[in-house]
Amino acid sequence: MLTMANLRHVLVIPFPAQGHVTPLLKLSCCIADYGAKVTFVNTESIHAQVMAANPGLDEGSNRIKFVTIPDGLETDEERKDPTKMLTSILRVMPGHLQELIEKVKKQSNGNEDEPISFMIADLTAGWALEVAERMGIKRAGFWPASVSTLALTLHIPQLIEGGVIDNNGIALKNDIITIWKDLPPYKSNDFTWKCPEDPMTQKVFFQCVSSIPLYRKRSNSVLCNSFHELEASAISVIPGALPIGPLIASARLFHLRGSLWNEDSTCLKWLDQHPAQSVIYVAFGSTSVFSPEQFYELAHGLEQIARPFLWVVRPDLTDRPVTEFLDGFLQRVRNYGKVVQWAPQEEVLAHHSVACFFTHCGWNSTLEGLSNGVPLLCRPYFGDQFLNRSFVCDVWRVGLGVDGDENGVATRHEVRTKMLAVLGSEEIRANCLRVKEMARKSVSEGGSSLMNLQSFIKHTIA
Ligand code: UDX
Repeated sequence: MLTMANLRHVLVIPFPAQGHVTPLLKLSCCIADYGAKVTFVNTESIHAQVMAANPGLDEGSNRIKFVTIPDGLETDEERKDPTKMLTSILRVMPGHLQELIEKVKKQSNGNEDEPISFMIADLTAGWALEVAERMGIKRAGFWPASVSTLALTLHIPQLIEGGVIDNNGIALKNDIITIWKDLPPYKSNDFTWKCPEDPMTQKVFFQCVSSIPLYRKRSNSVLCNSFHELEASAISVIPGALPIGPLIASARLFHLRGSLWNEDSTCLKWLDQHPAQSVIYVAFGSTSVFSPEQFYELAHGLEQIARPFLWVVRPDLTDRPVTEFLDGFLQRVRNYGKVVQWAPQEEVLAHHSVACFFTHCGWNSTLEGLSNGVPLLCRPYFGDQFLNRSFVCDVWRVGLGVDGDENGVATRHEVRTKMLAVLGSEEIRANCLRVKEMARKSVSEGGSSLMNLQSFIKHTIA
């Protein structure tokens, strides 16, 4: 590994959620590997969760220091309320971040630490870039979702101005929107601010993503967790977009990906007992929430397929208790099914026994599936996951979507039918292997993403 001298002290700040902490922590590891010192800023509550789930993480790398700032909220209940959460973050975090940077600077005068001279901030926490700009600190944005999502998001002002969407992000004219001729058209069903379960949250979410085009102007470059060969057209329409992904944890970094929950690694031994490409892995990320009705249909679908499956059922995966049902279900599927509360997902997807990934299409999960050549069955829940599904099914053709019935519920019949179709499709498997190879090359020596990262470090952080 090439180490560069005189790299700056870099402050890295994610939006406080699993799908944002994980990729930025992986990026921090890469930068630290080249010799930079990194200060990683979490909210107090996320920090407590990460440290509880990963004992010894803060001693894991002496070039990454974990620090915290408050999010202004008292309880986890408040943190689950998007309006309270987003309002509080904007109200208190910029001030605390500025104080933190000033504190490090004061300490550095006493020679305890080097002052922070570069910031990498999640564009969804883009207020941090404004703090950096005010304080004269060089900076870059980071985008944790697909570049196609970023292209749509950056175009929001023009969409409102052109009367294509209203101020709440609702389509006014057509259901199909062409933004750039080289990009596939966007469907209003795939709007990345979509929250079908909750129109109020959608409104708040849209206000939040509407700030991103302004935040984007605060930095010249945006590091993106994607790769050129996957999203060439979208990358080409965003000046300064620098694809450096997929940010995939190598075995050396598995313990540094910052899970917010304890990973149950008994599932890896369970996977060892299964033949190659025999297990269905089911996981819907950190935020999806199902009604009991939807949960029952998913469970019955898996039961009817009657193949080995590993299912991540977070304690808060359903909005009402399903304990009694789950007990009976586990009893019935005990010979071929395993349920855990949180899995070491990247190790699971890299395991030879995994045949298919039933996913919500969060961008990290999508990339992890693609990087391991695993066919996807898609059941998006909110936000960019709908657009990710469209790319998986229609552009890269590495999976199929599960549709909802007239009540939006994906039935057991639909789950079973589509799952069997994915498992039986040679075309999908061949496409998966092709994309896996492209992903591997992009982060290997001489690959597009690795070269972008090295150039960024050499010319921007040095
Ligand atoms: C969210 C959004 O859904 C996503 O679309 C956006 O791009 C980033 O933020 P989340 O819903 O949690 O994230 O999904 P995802 O992006 O897939 O991230 C989940 C992460 O948790 C993945 O890195 C995955 O490996 C990890 N995970 C998930 C585990 O480690 N164990 C599990 O059991 C489940």
